[in-house]
Amino acid sequence: MTDLIPELKPPVADAGTGCVRTGMALPRIDGRAKVTGAAQYAAEYHAPDLAHGVVVGSTIACGRIASLDTRAALAAPGVIEVITHLNRPRLRSFDLFYKDMTAPAGSPFRPLYDDRIHSSGQPVALVVARTFEEARYAAGLLDIAYQQRPHQTGLRSHLERAREPSHMKAGYTPPPDEKGHALQAWEAAPVRIDSSFYSGVEHHNPMELFSSTVIRARDGHLTIHDKTQSSQNSRWYVSHVFGLAKDKVTVRNTYVGGAFGSGLRPQYQLPLAVMAALMLKRSVRVTLTRQQMFTFGHRPETVQRLRLAASEDGKLQSIMHEAVAETSRSEDYVEAVVNWSGQLYACDNIRLDYQLVALDQFTPLDMRAPGAAHGMHALEIAMDELSYALKMDPLALRLANYASVNPTDGKPYSSKQLRQCYQQGAQLFGWARRPPAPRAMRVGRELVGWGMATGMWDAMQMFARASAVLHADGRLVVSSAATDIGTGTYTAMAMIAAEALGLPLERVVFQLGDSTLPVAPVEGGSSHVATVGSAVAGVCEKLCKSLLKLAHRLPDSPFSGKRMKDVEFAGGALRLRARPEVSVGLAALLATAGMQRMEEKYLMLPAMLKQRKYTRAVHSAVFCEVRVDEALGTVRVTRVVSAVAAGRIINARTAASQVSGGVVWGISQALHEESSMDHRHGRFMNHNFAEYHVAVNADIHDIQVVFVEEDDRIVSRIGAKGVGEIGIVGVAAAVSNAIYHATGRRLRSTPMTPDKVLPGETPPA
Ligand code: MOS
Repeated sequence: MTDLIPELKPPVADAGTGCVRTGMALPRIDGRAKVTGAAQYAAEYHAPDLAHGVVVGSTIACGRIASLDTRAALAAPGVIEVITHLNRPRLRSFDLFYKDMTAPAGSPFRPLYDDRIHSSGQPVALVVARTFEEARYAAGLLDIAYQQRPHQTGLRSHLERAREPSHMKAGYTPPPDEKGHALQAWEAAPVRIDSSFYSGVEHHNPMELFSSTVIRARDGHLTIHDKTQSSQNSRWYVSHVFGLAKDKVTVRNTYVGGAFGSGLRPQYQLPLAVMAALMLKRSVRVTLTRQQMFTFGHRPETVQRLRLAASEDGKLQSIMHEAVAETSRSEDYVEAVVNWSGQLYACDNIRLDYQLVALDQFTPLDMRAPGAAHGMHALEIAMDELSYALKMDPLALRLANYASVNPTDGKPYSSKQLRQCYQQGAQLFGWARRPPAPRAMRVGRELVGWGMATGMWDAMQMFARASAVLHADGRLVVSSAATDIGTGTYTAMAMIAAEALGLPLERVVFQLGDSTLPVAPVEGGSSHVATVGSAVAGVCEKLCKSLLKLAHRLPDSPFSGKRMKDVEFAGGALRLRARPEVSVGLAALLATAGMQRMEEKYLMLPAMLKQRKYTRAVHSAVFCEVRVDEALGTVRVTRVVSAVAAGRIINARTAASQVSGGVVWGISQALHEESSMDHRHGRFMNHNFAEYHVAVNADIHDIQVVFVEEDDRIVSRIGAKGVGEIGIVGVAAAVSNAIYHATGRRLRSTPMTPDKVLPGETPPA
């Protein structure tokens, strides 16, 4: 792909100089395209020969397809084909070919592979017709009989089967070995907490439904517009599953309407659409329904037990954190819920344990801050409980146990301005005015409570390539197969490049979302800015060096003998630092050399040997105010302050949007979100927005985001750590702690719905 993305019209950045600096608060480059509808999503591409596939899902959770009668569907108007395991095209047979780049240990699901049913809603047929409506109508005409086998669903009914996860997944860190003697220390301590927590299943609900539009060229080449967090992951998967050469498939994800982890793995509409395109030798689109979005993975149901012990003066003596989460029968989805509990507070005795129970359901899936969202929730509620047991302010308890090195392995943090988060967040919130006892504040009929929690997430860096082309007309085009799932990648990368070459933002185009571009990782783990941003900085530096070399060769060059440290790139020109009036325009420089373009490529490899010596993490402090109407059991989160230490912030505006979006979701997790399964059917029943509640505008009040000063050159050369996930971590705990402060009622399960909030018998743990 070499075309520019024509609809991108960046705003003019700095009216004074036209130049961009990272750290500015700029609106997103793609904002205009999005609000005008010019931005095209996966389901919005067309082809003259486009057919439409509709997925039919299993109504049982476990067993076999006994018979499948497609005759009525095939006879329906417009129907082209009904694809099932009986007539599908050839698929590769080894597990290895079905493993996408983020697959956990085990056997990945293979759509329409055979007659076996592994989970409710599993696709059993794809009805392909001329129009979507015809396909959808015919999908109701299939006559399917099942041979049902008993299924096991519901984590809490099967805890006796809990076992260690398989450690085969690359990047999975099992909990560390015990430090000290946690149980003895706990038993001997004067102040102790022993609490159990429960979190129900949550489903990803991005605005954009999962969709793949496969456009088949006459020579058989497939261009696939896919909703994914990595075009290259989807390309890799399709090539492997169908045995197609790399150059036969191009995947694009120019725009993605939210994903939150659900697009880290290719979802089943992708292989189904490709299957149909190969079989029918035409273009095909498959889009899932909102109901079907509840059939391919979720944040796993999790039970936890937290035991904390402290001395009378509030020093932690023991941390014991155990978690059991669900997975599927075929894969071990791991998110190491407990690991953060060993990285946050100074303590000599720490025991962490994480186990899985395999159930008859689809493999769970990463969802924003996977593992930390649940694990830190339990830890931070337990810390709040401990603070009341100690009669100590909850923030003072955190500060009394502030860790200056990683408590489990003694490694220093690459950077950790958490103390600043506590201080600035508390100040902005007015925490000092908090009355210590519960039920001390009331406005009208509502009780008011203030709670806080700490947030933590890993600061990761992967590897990436980038290329940069400076054109004779002064335009800079930088490319990498990165993704923008709505996070602001287009804008952040363009800012990094514009700053490096001293160009106004509107002269810079950052191209992403195409599998043929230079290698980039999945947009996940909040690592994209540290990874792709560093590749962009690297390739731009190479370009600057090459431009300086060109300047050396100018006749009577004032730059001769000058090194990079002697020059600067600003206002579209190269100039001497000491004498800024001595300058040459970048376009003029290329013209003098008779060049139409100058191109550089760069491979960014993380400095792993150096990075391994440090604990690398993003931190936050969340403060929250709730108002509780005890007569109705309703909770309103009226005020949240989130103070975040995430390294250098590249775009203050989109970064703040990431964090406030995370806070919104934290409130939603705290009060609304839960997928309810009918265990008689092993099926999620509230698979729609009417019954699966997400926070809406009316649920959201004042949210303030603060970034504290931090600069981390160990995580990335640009000093950035990442902000995608930290925003949600600790929010639900802060809400729970605020509800306790308001009411004296301790809620240890999410969501905290009115039935749990209403006074009366002890809420279920
Ligand atoms: Mo994130 S859950 O790594 O998309």
